[in-house]
Amino acid sequence: MNRKKLQWILAALAPLWLAFHFSASIKGEKQNAFMPGDASHGHHQIQLQCSACHTEDMGVKHDACASCHQEELDRVADSHPVTKFLDPRNADRVAILDARKCVTCHVEHQPDQTAQMGVTLPEDYCYFCHQDVAEERPTHEGLPFNSCSTTGCHNFHDNSALYEDFLEKHLDDPIHKPDPSVPPRTLYQNWAHENETSPLSLAQRDAPTSTHYSQDIAFEWSTSSHAQAGVNCMDCHQSEQSSDWVAKPGIASCQNCHDYETDTFLQSRHGMRLDLGLSPMTPAHAKLPMHAGAGHKELSCVSCHDDHSFETRFAAVNACMSCHDDSHTNSYKESKHYQLWLAESNGTAPAGTGVSCATCHLPRVEVTEFGETLTKVLHNQNDVLRPNEKMIRPVCIQCHGVGFSIDALADPNLLENNFSGPSSIHVESLEMVVEKLSRVAARRSQGTN
Ligand code: HEC
Ligand code: HEC
Ligand code: HEC
Ligand code: HEC
Ligand code: HEC
Ligand code: HEC
Ligand code: HEC
Ligand code: HEC
Ligand code: HEC
Ligand code: HEC
Repeated sequence: MNRKKLQWILAALAPLWLAFHFSASIKGEKQNAFMPGDASHGHHQIQLQCSACHTEDMGVKHDACASCHQEELDRVADSHPVTKFLDPRNADRVAILDARKCVTCHVEHQPDQTAQMGVTLPEDYCYFCHQDVAEERPTHEGLPFNSCSTTGCHNFHDNSALYEDFLEKHLDDPIHKPDPSVPPRTLYQNWAHENETSPLSLAQRDAPTSTHYSQDIAFEWSTSSHAQAGVNCMDCHQSEQSSDWVAKPGIASCQNCHDYETDTFLQSRHGMRLDLGLSPMTPAHAKLPMHAGAGHKELSCVSCHDDHSFETRFAAVNACMSCHDDSHTNSYKESKHYQLWLAESNGTAPAGTGVSCATCHLPRVEVTEFGETLTKVLHNQNDVLRPNEKMIRPVCIQCHGVGFSIDALADPNLLENNFSGPSSIHVESLEMVVEKLSRVAARRSQGTN
């Protein structure tokens, strides 16, 4: 056999060899050796779970992205859904930039070329499909294409905080609303009613007498809202399979009664590893700055809700600050929001007027369950994190005007110092919107529409 032929055969066999090693590596420990580079900010926590995104031959699963993200994109009424690009009328645009595939814009494992939100396209990419925008919209004449999204006017997917009718409705809101507060949470009174339970006293605890525990545990439970609602030790310390005492109930026990909170927790950066059946997230896994001493803490329900008080105030500030250690977090206590939180906590201001970490990151939202509208705590902090306009609707406009909120969220200093100071930036895009809305209003009043 001549040398050339041998080289050729080896070259032909190489993919097979690679494929063999990849499939072996999917289950093996050395899989990250085959990973071309770290996954993006949103995914590094699950990057070693290749099979979350890849098929056995290392292609990207056709529904990988949708299986975890479609629900969110639908909820925010994605402005550029895949369906838009299946329309044959958009074939010429798809030929330039195939927006039918998420990976056209979100390639993984390329840390050097990846911007915020896992985007791997240059900033001015709107040009590919909207180069003629100024023809129909003279206001857009001469605007650079890298300003479409950087000035706070548009996002590719989620524009729900920028819709004209939403802005129109809120444009005249004052900077500070007259009664700035967030709505109360719906209590689980129905649960106690439906389960025919009544408040339990310390003596009524049902942990087996053979179990050893400190009196602190029993006391904390007796003063908790669980005891108030008639939830006893065994409601948590028992599995569905047997009546034996479970020493450390996991997240599944909470899920029995708190489905919404558990689901949204599992979709979040805090819960995403548990969702895939991996070991829990710990600060040691983090790329964001964390307290050195917190490295071993595991993220579960009880990392914020102290057992057995299952208290929510500690969970809303001090729990967060026991892990997170960046300048935004550490500046919070300088802010007026913290003063409001202290006043609410001391009882000198009405409930709902304080602003904790959780007020912004784990907001109270309306959820419909069995035809009933309830106000619950959204436990996926990423649902309202980026683009940060997502925080406007569920959070800021409870207390502030929309213009003030857009300005504040566009100011990098205010993000860094946790809003402990007045906003120094004024976003011009808002003026464009105001101008536009006044033109629409003028046309409407002339009856021309
Ligand atoms: C969160 C989803 C996700 C996870 C998890 C993930 N990848 Fe990827 N990977 C991608 C995407 C998206 C691409 C880009 C595909 C494209 O460009 O068509 C990719 C591309 C690749 C490529 C091809 C690179 C190239 O230049 O063609 C390899 C090899 C790869 N991944 C290996 C791995 C390995 C090994 C793991 C596990 C250790 C892993 N990936 C985990 C999403 C993921
Ligand atoms: C196993 C579930 C899973 C899969 C598969 C997955 N993701 Fe994610 N992704 C997450 C989670 C969880 C986060 C972090 C929480 C969040 O941002 O919603 C995240 C974060 C992101 C972010 C970053 C958001 C930010 O604020 O920084 C983008 C963009 C993204 N995913 C796109 C994709 C694309 C595109 C694919 C397909 C290649 C994909 N994801 C596959 C679960 C998944
Ligand atoms: C034409 C480019 C493009 C395509 C195609 C694309 N994205 Fe994005 N994606 C972006 C940009 C740009 C951002 C940054 C925020 C924005 O402008 O909406 C983003 C942000 C995101 C985010 C985080 C922020 C948010 O709004 O929730 C997720 C999650 C996401 N994309 C998922 C997907 C998934 C899933 C697909 C496929 C169904 C997809 N993207 C297709 C460009 C794209
Ligand atoms: C791959 C092609 C493509 C890219 C890239 C793209 N768009 Fe679009 N966009 C479309 C299509 C198709 C429509 C549907 C309306 C139409 O035909 O003009 C649309 C509609 C819109 C609309 C009308 C809003 C609506 O909900 O109907 C706006 C605003 C918009 N795009 C802004 C942008 C901005 C800003 C960017 C960059 C961040 C961008 N688009 C990137 C293809 C694209
Ligand atoms: C709302 C659910 C819930 C109720 C009600 C509850 N527990 Fe627990 N308990 C937990 C969880 C969750 C853990 C595990 C905490 C952890 O992982 O650190 C736990 C842990 C324990 C432990 C082990 C502590 C340790 O540090 O090892 C004991 C003992 C215990 N509980 C006793 C009780 C007793 C006695 C009662 C009733 C008076 C009770 N629990 C009521 C959820 C509950
Ligand atoms: C048997 C049902 C049941 C189980 C199991 C259960 N809970 Fe509860 N939980 C309730 C009820 C009922 C309330 C009543 C609170 C109310 O009136 O708003 C409640 C309240 C709460 C509150 C709010 C406390 C407050 O002061 O406002 C938190 C936090 C909480 N539970 C967390 C958990 C966690 C974490 C677990 C798992 C370790 C768990 N629960 C297990 C039924 C349950
Ligand atoms: C037990 C430690 C721990 C506690 C308690 C905790 N976190 Fe986290 N948090 C983490 C870790 C770890 C991550 C993932 C960081 C990474 O991947 O770099 C994270 C991620 C986040 C993110 C997403 C950051 C991003 O860029 O996507 C936000 C926002 C956040 N936490 C806010 C909070 C808030 C608010 C609280 C309190 C209500 C809190 N955290 C409590 C450890 C914790
Ligand atoms: C990052 C910290 C954090 C983690 C982790 C966390 N919670 Fe919460 N949770 C909070 C905070 C803060 C509140 C109160 C927010 C408020 O009052 O607006 C809350 C409120 C609640 C409530 C009462 C409000 C409601 O929605 O009805 C329940 C029940 C609850 N959490 C259950 C859980 C369960 C179950 C888990 C685990 C799957 C969990 N939490 C994990 C921080 C956390
Ligand atoms: C008034 C609302 C508000 C309050 C209060 C607040 N944050 Fe934030 N937080 C934000 C906004 C807005 C962002 C920026 C999102 C972006 O643009 O990337 C952010 C970002 C973060 C991030 C992500 C940083 C990163 O680089 O990915 C973490 C972690 C975080 N906050 C934790 C906390 C903690 C912990 C507290 C309480 C000590 C807190 N926040 C209080 C609004 C708030
Ligand atoms: C529960 C009500 C409430 C929520 C929610 C809230 N704020 Fe505030 N915020 C206030 C109040 C009240 C003040 C003024 C306190 C004072 O002047 O004593 C304030 C002050 C501020 C300041 C400082 C102004 C100054 O002059 O020092 C900024 C900036 C700010 N908020 C931005 C935001 C942003 C952005 C959001 C949403 C992410 C938000 N706030 C959410 C009530 C709230």
